Formats: sequence, C-alpha cells, structure tokens
Amino acid sequence: MPAAGEGRESTGIPGLDKMLDGGLIPGRSYILAGDPGSGKSTLCGHFMMEGIKNDEEVLYVTIDEPPSDVSSNFNSFGWDPDKITILNAHPKVRDYKIRGSLIEVAAQRSVGALKDMREQDKEKKPDSSGPDLSLPSLQLMLQKEFEHKSYDRLVIDSIISLKLLGARDIEWELGINSLMRLLTEENVTTILVTDNPKRGDAIRPEFFLSRGIIRLHRLMVKGKLYRCIYIEKFRGSGHDLQIRPFSISFRGIEVDSGRSLPGDVLSNLMANYPRP
Ligand SMILES: Nc1ncnc2c1ncn2[C@@H]1O[C@H](COP(=O)(O)OP(=O)(O)O)[C@@H](O)[C@H]1O
Ligand SMILES: [Mg+2]
Repeated sequence: MPAAGEGRESTGIPGLDKMLDGGLIPGRSYILAGDPGSGKSTLCGHFMMEGIKNDEEVLYVTIDEPPSDVSSNFNSFGWDPDKITILNAHPKVRDYKIRGSLIEVAAQRSVGALKDMREQDKEKKPDSSGPDLSLPSLQLMLQKEFEHKSYDRLVIDSIISLKLLGARDIEWELGINSLMRLLTEENVTTILVTDNPKRGDAIRPEFFLSRGIIRLHRLMVKGKLYRCIYIEKFRGSGHDLQIRPFSISFRGIEVDSGRSLPGDVLSNLMANYPRP
C-alpha cells in the first residue's frame, strides 16, 4: 500500500489518497457527504483503522448506529476496531443517560473503548422520552473529552440527525462554525459525515465552512448498482477532478483512480443531482 504523500495523512484507501494528491491535509475538517448505504461509515472505518495502524489517537462519535452495530460492521471487513475510542451518542444510550439540561449532557463522559461500549450497549433499554442531542451539546461533550485527551483523528457519524432535531438555520450555522473552530484549535483531522444535498437545497454551512468535501453516490442504472466518489472541494491542494467508480467488498472500499464512470451512469448521476 503506498504511503500518503509528504505532509499528507492517508485516508487508508490508496485510490482515494491518489485522488487527494497524496491524502488529507492534517488538522483540518472535511465533509463526507453520501447517499444512504453509499459507504460513508466504511470510508470512515478505513480512515480510523489507518490512524490505529500508525499508533494515533482516534475518536469515533457514533450517532446513527449503536456501538454493537459499528463493531459488527467493522468486523465484517476483518478490522479489529477495539483500539478506537468511541463516544457513544446513539439515542439508545442518550435517552438512557441524559437527564435534563445540556450541561448535564456535557458532564456525561460516554466515552470508552469500543469493546466496553459494545457490552454496555446490549444492556441498555431504548426509551424515547429523553431529550435529544444537539450540536452545542455534542460540542460540549467533545470539549470535555479534549480536556482529558488529545486526538489525531476524529469522525462524527453523522451530523444529519443533529440537524433534523429542529435546529433553526441560523443556530445550525453558528453551531457548525463554533464546532469547526474547536476542531481547528484541537488540530484534529476530522471527517464530518452527512447526507447529499437534494436538488433545490440551499448550500449548507458545513459545506462552505469545511476545508474539503468528498462525495459518495450510490445509484441504480439498468438494474446494476454503481458506487462513485469525487472530490468536490479541497482547499490548499490540487485533486482529481473526475468522478471515479469504487467497490465495497470484504476488503472494504477500493477506488480505482484510473477508471472513469461509464457514460450512461454519469448522465444518470448528472440528471439526478444538483452538483457537480
Ligand atoms: N463486509 C461487506 N462486504 C461487502 N459489502 C459490504 C460489507 N459491509 C457493507 N457492505 C456494503 O456497503 C454498503 C455501505 O455501508 P455503509 O458504509 O454502512 O454505508 P453508509 O454509512 O453510507 O450508510 C452496505 O449497504 C453494503 O452494501
Ligand atoms: Mg453509516
């Protein structure tokens, strides 16, 4: 596997590193936007396992999936994710633990090794009556965690459900801005996972505030499933301008950075998405 370029941080996916002119620029925040089931969490898994391989500190904030699911998904790729520190913000645990104010939420350190979380997770009973997590309360949780320990890599998977919880646009923009400032101060290379904007959507603040955007698509053309990836933005670096096909197998994601998407698939993609 080729190493990342000088001054770059490998994503753990050689074909994607190539598309990024050697890898991510360390210490910055990136948006990973993709359709449901397009491979976002798998890509994050590569990014985190690469950090583990290099003896880095890696933190995974899981919001959409409980730790037990994260663990079994990672195991299906032959990864042993037990060295990843996980901040479990899945509703099943949030509702169980959180009692009232955001400050109390922030005071909870639901951070631990994935293997311990997995066990706790099984004992939790779902209870949807508790308050949900917001962007500011997540930021407080992270601040608290950073006081405790510094991290090289961070993944927040995903910020979609935080937004769906009714944050108004201006609050969301301020929240994202503030979170990104914290992450810059922490100098932690971060992937913020989100969904693909829909046709007619206004450009979301996370898209213009991030230093780079990686997009994943999953589409069906003539009865065949295609997956593709492209770099929509990468401040301070050149990058591949083409959309590339990729596959997901037991080896995880493989990007063939030398191949193009078939013409009919590309037209289909263009017809269905507002950008590029
Ligand atoms: N072990 C595996 N082998 C092959 N394909 C897999 C494996 N695990 C997951 N996949 C495929 O990867 C897809 C994307 O998974 P995931 O990364 O969880 O997507 P997302 O986070 O974007 O919703 C799954 O829907 C499945 O098709
Ligand atoms: Mg996912």
